[in-house]
Amino acid sequence: MEMTCIDTDQELAETARRTSKNLLQRMEQHLRTFLSAEHELWTAVDERAVGAVDALSELVAAGGKRIRPAFCIAGYLAADGDPENPAVVTAAAALEMLHVSALIHDDIIDASSHRRGLPTVHAHHSALHTRRAWQGEARRFGEGVALLVGDLALVYSEQLMAHAPAAVVPVWNRLRSELMIGQYMDMSAAAEFCVDPQLSRWIALAKSGHYTIHRPLAVGASAAGRPDLAPAFEKYGEAVGEAFQLRDDLLDAFGDSADTGKPAGLDFSQHKMTLLLGWAMQRDERIHSLITTPGHTPEEVRRHLVDTGVPHDIEKHIADLVEQGCAALADTPIDPVWRTELTHMATRVAYRTA
Ligand code: IPE
Ligand code: IPE
Ligand code: MG
Ligand code: MG
Ligand code: MG
Repeated sequence: MEMTCIDTDQELAETARRTSKNLLQRMEQHLRTFLSAEHELWTAVDERAVGAVDALSELVAAGGKRIRPAFCIAGYLAADGDPENPAVVTAAAALEMLHVSALIHDDIIDASSHRRGLPTVHAHHSALHTRRAWQGEARRFGEGVALLVGDLALVYSEQLMAHAPAAVVPVWNRLRSELMIGQYMDMSAAAEFCVDPQLSRWIALAKSGHYTIHRPLAVGASAAGRPDLAPAFEKYGEAVGEAFQLRDDLLDAFGDSADTGKPAGLDFSQHKMTLLLGWAMQRDERIHSLITTPGHTPEEVRRHLVDTGVPHDIEKHIADLVEQGCAALADTPIDPVWRTELTHMATRVAYRTA
């Protein structure tokens, strides 16, 4: 009898995973179809006009983990949404498109050279300008193009989300304004470079955790007509969302750019006031002058950070957040299969290497 029960649980888990994988594949297909229709539209207007669409398509095709669509679909299915309804596919695609827009602009802000293993949009176009000996400043050209390509992705994300049920609109609005405000605060805190761990935590959530985990889940639940799940998804999403960004910060400091597809050590050179750096600066005042002295190497900063013991404490904080997040689902009225799946997803995003 018990064996049958285990078999049934495993079968249910398999079915849930298959359904979500299928929706993710439909989301990929939708992104491709959408972008190739735009390609056709703009090719017909002018051969050169299509460059902006193609720059965006290349970044989308370069991969990425598709975390936001995955959480949107998980939220939708956990809320018992109908897998045949195409609205969740377009909502998930909209979230990925918004993310790509944020990445393109973030790479200008952070002066980053690579993304998803490719030159960033602004770096690629600056180099192109130089190679072709065009008029004007190469950097301005590259950054200008990337601003526009990022804006184009933002417009497309809006077009895609327009197919979602009206109940999604308040979550979608908050998700977008919060992301921009979070990025603004990230820049301001880096410029002021004052230690404020509470602020660092707030920024991690506003610029990243909310739009990556919490609100995609809420979009999914709203699209399925289950606003009652919002409080549990908020608790889970805030905890797991913060863990996601703290891992990103650790990967920037200690990860391998061959795995992440983006440069390592950039947060140090940009003096980003992450929780990692904030806690370390509270313990060792030499880190402040090291970071603000031009020409420091990431290796020097890494050595000092490890000596403070803070990376270990961040790991502990991540583990606590994952536990808190998963505990928040304990009494939520969702199928146990989804409780288990969301627990696995929390672990995957918190302990990823890329
Ligand atoms: C990177 O997000 C930007 C942050 C919010 C930290 P991801 O790590 O999800 O990037 P991709 O989509 O997999 O490239
Ligand atoms: C920015 O965080 C997140 C957004 C794209 C909004 P980061 O600046 O830390 O992201 P990465 O490390 O460049 O991906
Ligand atoms: Mg940034
Ligand atoms: Mg960045
Ligand atoms: Mg980062």
